[in-house]
Order: sequence, then C-alpha cells, then structure tokens
Amino acid sequence: MDLHEAIRGRRPIRKFKPTPVPRDLLAEVMDLALWAPSSGGEHEYELVVTRGALRARIQEAVVEQLESIRADCERDHGHKIAEEVTAFYRDFGGAPVLVFAYAGTLPDGRDDTFGISVAVHNMMLGAHAAGLGTAWAGLPCAHSVERAAGLADNGKTLVGIVPVGFPDEEARPTARKDNRVRWIGY
Ligand SMILES: Cc1cc2nc3c(=O)[nH]c(=O)nc-3n(C[C@H](O)[C@H](O)[C@H](O)COP(=O)(O)O)c2cc1C
Repeated sequence: MDLHEAIRGRRPIRKFKPTPVPRDLLAEVMDLALWAPSSGGEHEYELVVTRGALRARIQEAVVEQLESIRADCERDHGHKIAEEVTAFYRDFGGAPVLVFAYAGTLPDGRDDTFGISVAVHNMMLGAHAAGLGTAWAGLPCAHSVERAAGLADNGKTLVGIVPVGFPDEEARPTARKDNRVRWIGY
C-alpha cells in the first residue's frame, strides 16, 4: 500500500472479526512501530502484545471493574465520554489482540509520551497497510484497565491500549480542519 493511501485511509476500527491474527503478520506491524523516531534515539517505551487466554482474562477483569472504570471516567471527563469509553472497553470491539502501550522515561524523569505516540502511530499505519484494524483506546481510563487486568508493573506509564484485528466494519471517513497549517514566507 502506498504511504499516502495508508495515512489517509487509516480510520479507527471499533468492531473486529474473531479471526486470529497470525504472529508473522503482527510481528511485521510491531517492527514498524520500532522504526519511529524517538527522543535521543533511546526507544525506552514498551509495547505489550496480549492475546488468547491472557486477552480473555484481561477482558473478564475489565468487565468486573467496568463500574469503577466508569466512575473514574465520569469524575474526570464527564458522563458522555464515560459512556462511550465503557461501551468500547466492554469488549474492545471483539479484537483478538490488545496491545498495551507504555511510555518510556526521559532523562529528566518525565514520561516520554511523544516517543510512544509516534511508535503507536507507525504501528497503526502498518496494521492498516496489512489489512488489520486498530483504534487507540485512550488515556481517560487506561490505568483502571491496567489495574483491573493485573498486568505486572513494568515501572512505565500506560498511555493507551490498542485493539488489533481484522475489521468487521467499514472505516468511517472523518473530516479534517483546513486551518491547522500556517504558511509563513512561503
Ligand atoms: C491520544 C488518543 C486517545 C484516544 N482515545 C480513544 C478512546 O479512548 N476511545 C476511542 O474510541 N478512540 C480513541 N481515540 C481515537 C480517536 O477517537 C480518533 O482518532 C478520532 O475520532 C479521529 O478519527 P481518525 O482517527 O479517523 O482521525 C484516541 C486517539 C488518540 C490520538
């Protein structure tokens, strides 16, 4: 797939087929994530790929904790977002794979959210080019999910969860604002 097509054609997918994702295909996608630029070339982030029994356990734990996730979300982001987020978290669209995206730590101790974000975007583009769908299940409640899932503490900050699988819905086009680029002296 041509790069322009990959960038313009990737849209969030929130409904997935149960078809397993072959490891080789996913390994190519994960490798593309690692080719993203990073601050100081350190690539300190971590991407944790889960499927099968662990994926199922995570889902059970999340569903058990859904009300507390909803409460956390509602407190921080209001009712509408809490409803949307918990609806998606209930089964992550049936995605057979969940990727947990952790930020590395910068030399000054801050989380390198930029580094993990560009890596995740590479991954999402690579997945799209490979015929896979992704969505970024984002910041509001990721910590509650991590706690609920009982993932071992790796000392890094979880910034998002990316469900991955073969799409079971048409990607919906989203509009773009045309005033985001300012041209000076050009
Ligand atoms: C940091 C970040 C957090 C996001 N969190 C969520 C989320 O929690 N749930 C969700 O369904 N989509 C989430 N998204 C996806 C956005 O909703 C989506 O990208 C947006 O609707 C624009 O659509 P597009 O990807 O087609 O441009 C997130 C995206 C980013 C970059």
